[in-house]
Amino acid sequence: MKKNNNNSQQLKPEGPWFLFLTVLVLIGGALLIVFSLQTTSSSLLSCGGALGRRALPSRNETQLAILHYATSRVVPQQTFEEIMVSFNVLQSIGPCNFLVFGLGHDSLMWASLNPGGKTLFLEEDPKWVQTVLKDAPALRADTVGYRTQLSEADQLLKHYQSEPDCSTEKSFLRGNDKCRLALNKLSDEVYDTEWDMIMVDTPRGTYFSEAPGRMAAIYSAAVMARNRKKSGVTHVFLHDVNRRVEQMYAEKFLCTKYLVKAEGRLWHFEIPPSANVSGDFCYTTQRSS
Ligand SMILES: C[S@@+](CC[C@H](N)C(=O)[O-])C[C@H]1O[C@@H](n2cnc3c(N)ncnc32)[C@H](O)[C@@H]1O
Ligand SMILES: *[C@@H]1O[C@H](CO)[C@@H](O)[C@H](O)[C@H]1NC(C)=O
Ligand SMILES: *[C@@H]1O[C@H](CO)[C@@H](O)[C@H](O)[C@H]1NC(C)=O
Repeated sequence: MKKNNNNSQQLKPEGPWFLFLTVLVLIGGALLIVFSLQTTSSSLLSCGGALGRRALPSRNETQLAILHYATSRVVPQQTFEEIMVSFNVLQSIGPCNFLVFGLGHDSLMWASLNPGGKTLFLEEDPKWVQTVLKDAPALRADTVGYRTQLSEADQLLKHYQSEPDCSTEKSFLRGNDKCRLALNKLSDEVYDTEWDMIMVDTPRGTYFSEAPGRMAAIYSAAVMARNRKKSGVTHVFLHDVNRRVEQMYAEKFLCTKYLVKAEGRLWHFEIPPSANVSGDFCYTTQRSS
């Protein structure tokens, strides 16, 4: 009975032990709150590692791209002057729908130069897609199967002349199995988007005859541009025009008369929708309406 009395005496609200414990709990709580605030703010504003950044829902892609190129020894193949051609168009019409044939060291740059727009990459090499996306998971890329080989470039022009499904009157890609220049198995998103800009910069520089070549990419870009329903032109950029096949296909399908700028190894075409022109891809006259 006495013992009990003693205990209750010490833990009474006005007792010294109670006061001591209360202060201890208060200090502990305050420390806990400060500590947890510090850890959240440091992970939100962090200059932390890549993993921390990737976990964030709203990272700034522009800043990440700057960081990437500032710490990378591999730079895009296009020259500053060549890049400026597309850059200037992006500045004037962006944010826009930008389709890029080829994934490379320039991909993060193109996506970052089109903030708020849709930038989609088409790449033939599935292993290369994995490699690039590992370092730049925010990029959007589809793998594309080509039905052509570089060595067939001349023969495919004859095929184009003789195959009715390649004709400009039909002018379709989705499910176009007969015209081998048509990229017939792209995703619905590619077919259903009106692309304001199309960059053709694949396959890579090493030029082997079994490589798919750019014939189908150039033909398909031309068909997409022709089929545009929105007002305004489609900007098509073709790199490596120092090569015979690129030149030949560009002149045939993107049309010399729509060439608006040549810079280094880059050609820039402005292709109007076919509704505005009549006749073949290149033998066209503006309708006088
Ligand atoms: C024509 S290159 C150049 C692309 C871009 N202009 C650049 O500056 O990186 C891109 C193509 O090369 C192929 N490629 C395969 N392995 C590659 C590698 N290790 N580095 C660069 N390109 C590679 C891919 O198919 C890709 O579409
Ligand atoms: C990303 O950072 C850049 C450069 O600091 C800034 O101009 C831009 O507004 C930022 N974008 C977003 C979406 O916060
Ligand atoms: C196509 O024609 C329409 C109607 O004449 C015109 O408003 C539009 O600007 C033209 N577009 C192009 C790209 O020439």
